[in-house]
Amino acid sequence: MKIYLIGMPGSGKSTIGHLLAKEIGYEWIDLDQMIEKKALMFIDQIFEEYGEKSFRSFETDALKELSDKDNLVISTGGGVVVKRRNKKLMDGLTIYLDVDNLSITNRLKSDYDRPLLKSRSIEDLYDERFLRYQSFADLNVSNENSAEETVLEIVKYLKEKELI
Ligand code: S3P
Repeated sequence: MKIYLIGMPGSGKSTIGHLLAKEIGYEWIDLDQMIEKKALMFIDQIFEEYGEKSFRSFETDALKELSDKDNLVISTGGGVVVKRRNKKLMDGLTIYLDVDNLSITNRLKSDYDRPLLKSRSIEDLYDERFLRYQSFADLNVSNENSAEETVLEIVKYLKEKELI
């Protein structure tokens, strides 16, 4: 099975993905890192040189590349829900990490690497995307507390549903 983590930038998708994969013995894939390795460029450079539209195509290509792989926890980029057809490529369980906008703003205060946040606020992005996140998600999990608690909650769900 593949487990996809979605949510706003700064919602903890990479931290939780890494810990969750370790906990359940799955491989961890960070979609942004995968794109960077393939393009040999950082995400902000990709945005600068090729623009958001090309980045979204690279994102979809990366999802396609994972289609025949199994037992993965995939931390996606916050905008993976922008393209509706990505949902079809994300076969498995999709978990939305729910974090309050204020907590996100505080977490990202000293982060200058997120190109979209140079032109848009967290609130604007959230308003644009909230329904998308909900339409992609099979499960909502709060990530307001410690990463360990969030991982425990996800593992509990996976066990209850006999998914692992
Ligand atoms: C994006 C979020 C980023 C990265 C890119 C675009 C977005 O990932 O994929 O900068 O559109 O929200 P994070 O969610 O890990 O910041």
